[in-house]
Amino acid sequence: MTTKPHHSSLLLLFVFVVLFLHRSHAQPNTTGYSCTANQTEYPCRTYAFYRGGLVANYSDLASIGDLFGVSRLMIADPSNISTSALSAPLVADQPLFVPLTCSCNPTNGISNISSANINYTMPAGDTFYGVSTGAFENLTSYQSVEVVNPELVPTNLTIGVDVVIPIFCKCPNQSVTAGGSNYLVSYVLQPSDNLSSVASRFGVQEQSIVDINGNNTKPTETLFVPVSKLPNLTQPIVSAAPAPSVKKERTRVILGLATGIGVLGAF
Ligand SMILES: *[C@@H]1O[C@H](CO)[C@@H](O)[C@H](O)[C@H]1NC(C)=O
Ligand SMILES: *[C@@H]1O[C@H](CO)[C@@H](O)[C@H](O)[C@H]1NC(C)=O
Ligand SMILES: *[C@@H]1O[C@H](CO)[C@@H](O)[C@H](O)[C@H]1NC(C)=O
Ligand SMILES: *[C@@H]1O[C@H](CO)[C@@H](O)[C@H](O)[C@H]1NC(C)=O
Ligand SMILES: *[C@@H]1O[C@H](CO)[C@@H](O)[C@H](O)[C@H]1NC(C)=O
Ligand SMILES: *[C@@H]1O[C@H](CO)[C@@H](O)[C@H](O)[C@H]1NC(C)=O
Ligand SMILES: *[C@@H]1O[C@H](CO)[C@@H](O)[C@H](O)[C@H]1NC(C)=O
Ligand SMILES: *[C@@H]1O[C@H](CO)[C@@H](O)[C@H](O)[C@H]1NC(C)=O
Ligand SMILES: *[C@@H]1O[C@H](CO)[C@@H](O)[C@H](O)[C@H]1NC(C)=O
Ligand SMILES: *[C@@H]1O[C@H](CO)[C@@H](O)[C@H](O)[C@H]1NC(C)=O
Ligand SMILES: *[C@@H]1O[C@H](CO)[C@@H](O)[C@H](O)[C@H]1NC(C)=O
Ligand SMILES: *[C@@H]1O[C@H](CO)[C@@H](O)[C@H](O)[C@H]1NC(C)=O
Repeated sequence: MTTKPHHSSLLLLFVFVVLFLHRSHAQPNTTGYSCTANQTEYPCRTYAFYRGGLVANYSDLASIGDLFGVSRLMIADPSNISTSALSAPLVADQPLFVPLTCSCNPTNGISNISSANINYTMPAGDTFYGVSTGAFENLTSYQSVEVVNPELVPTNLTIGVDVVIPIFCKCPNQSVTAGGSNYLVSYVLQPSDNLSSVASRFGVQEQSIVDINGNNTKPTETLFVPVSKLPNLTQPIVSAAPAPSVKKERTRVILGLATGIGVLGAF
């Protein structure tokens, strides 16, 4: 009877592994969005909607700019952040548009995928899942990171190894452009979102989002929102320069909250 406890602990381990796998598959099951290389469409300039101040280490424009390989100004400009606030810390969930160059990239084995490839140096203890759900806020998936880095073994990553991160993006084709949309903005659907709230955030019709993304969209999936131009983002007002005191920090949070409530009100 000595095998019995052995069996139950095996079973426990099995349940644990299944639960773990389930958790790590909670991201959309996709290796990316396929494309056919058409030089009229690809590459193109596009934007990703990024939530500043949400993930550890990415709470100012400089660190987010470093992450995506762009300057602070290149984010501040489309995001309606004044130049005097370039160094200010971001409030939690502060909306940003990060510029991307979207290409139709060959991958090992599967069809080409539409992505903006970013170089990223793996910090200690990080995983493809951690990077895609953390720093990159689900703008990519660990499955996609795996297919664009075939030479790397996901379970044996060396600290400091350079990884290519494929940020999901799309370039508008002729029919999208003919419909009046110049950009397909990458936007990660949140659990608190619905298509009508996303549509009003971008100032577009809900149907136009369905036309591009289908009607079976799920939270943490990347949506491509068709816009003729970027919507104006309302940013919290921050006072420039001096090192933020506790009081100023609090004011910022309150302003951020007020902005959030204002945005909700607009919906
Ligand atoms: C993910 O999708 C692939 C095909 O697209 C399928 O073969 C696989 O079973 C899916 N995995 C899960 C966990 O749904
Ligand atoms: C994938 O991309 C490469 C290089 O851009 C191109 O030569 C090839 O034809 C593409 N393949 C497909 C299936 O689009
Ligand atoms: C944040 O930065 C610190 C110091 O550079 C590092 O130790 C830590 O791993 C980083 N955290 C994440 C989530 O990247
Ligand atoms: C990423 O790294 C590769 C190889 O090291 C390099 O060729 C490429 O230019 C880099 N891309 C960017 C955007 O820095
Ligand atoms: C990304 O998706 C994962 C899995 O659904 C979730 O746990 C995580 O909080 C998401 N990340 C962000 C920044 O929303
Ligand atoms: C893990 O990677 C290191 C360095 O890249 C290598 O020396 C080692 O053999 C690898 N281990 C396994 C189990 O693949
Ligand atoms: C490439 O895209 C252009 C514009 O969208 C279109 O007119 C053309 O037919 C496409 N070519 C191919 C080979 O798909
Ligand atoms: C969508 O969300 C907004 C607020 O986020 C809410 O007011 C609205 O009722 C929701 N619409 C649907 C169809 O669930
Ligand atoms: C144009 O792009 C949209 C969105 O990516 C897609 O649904 C549609 O099928 C494409 N049309 C053509 C003719 O490729
Ligand atoms: C979703 O789209 C499918 C076809 O793509 C259609 O058959 C179905 O009726 C749609 N569902 C809703 C709720 O619009
Ligand atoms: C830019 O943000 C300010 C607040 O910082 C706001 O008053 C203004 O309306 C915004 N501009 C546009 C064009 O939305
Ligand atoms: C955004 O702001 C600009 C001025 O900076 C204005 O011309 C434009 O009409 C605004 N767009 C919307 C959708 O409010």
